[in-house]
Amino acid sequence: MRKEIAAANWKMNITYPQAENLIDDILQQNHNLNHHRLVIFGVPYPYLKMAQDRVHNNDQIHIAAQNMHHERNGAYTGEISAEMLHAIGVEYVILGHSERRLHFGETNEILAKKVSLAMEYEIKPIFCCGEPLEIREAGTQNEYVRKQLEESLFHLQPSQLRDFVIAYEPIWAIGTGKTATDEQAQEMHAFIRRLFAEKYGQNIANYISILYGGSIKASNAKAIFSQHDVDGGLVGGASLIAADFGVIIDSLKKDAEV
Ligand code: PGA
Repeated sequence: MRKEIAAANWKMNITYPQAENLIDDILQQNHNLNHHRLVIFGVPYPYLKMAQDRVHNNDQIHIAAQNMHHERNGAYTGEISAEMLHAIGVEYVILGHSERRLHFGETNEILAKKVSLAMEYEIKPIFCCGEPLEIREAGTQNEYVRKQLEESLFHLQPSQLRDFVIAYEPIWAIGTGKTATDEQAQEMHAFIRRLFAEKYGQNIANYISILYGGSIKASNAKAIFSQHDVDGGLVGGASLIAADFGVIIDSLKKDAEV
């Protein structure tokens, strides 16, 4: 069975006390989580340890960093390494978010290095892909996403892709209030799964969780998550409101596919 995941991406929002309250509020909600239905909080670096401590001993709730550097260590003032994340027990890292690609010049090649390094330190990437509006309008989104995945992930060994997490986030839907239609999401997710099936075999592809991201709200989560190849979501704005994120968690499929 592949995992259904509600992942929060807090981005550069909320203060430390607000972060403590937000995690506590969600922990107090009674969600029907299990080995196949997970919650991940993608929090700013200074909150990682606090967040880790708060969800300690909870197998269904995990913490993610929002980025890490592509070099192992060295003279990179202000950067954070995979080794540092590993040392404090961080299990996931969001890599290749479109905001990092856009504002910080992250290329497919740099992301390939980040993915390898994260895996070396046993940190699971939540690898983001997705096309800008002009590509969607030109109808070439499949080729665009294929290149992102091929150039950043297809060097991995099949065993490294077991339980891998991809987030498909069409850039035109992030923070815009504009969501992809359920059909557009399903179509792209099925395409992504097919790419992995062609390269690595259907069995591996079946176990990859493909999350949708881009203006997921309490009101639309259920419809998007119910699509066959959508295994949950990467949620920005709505993950900052405990009640809304709670509804989104409860919108995950109950009986995971496969
Ligand atoms: P959004 O962000 O839910 O605010 O659109 C999603 C993301 O960027 O991961």
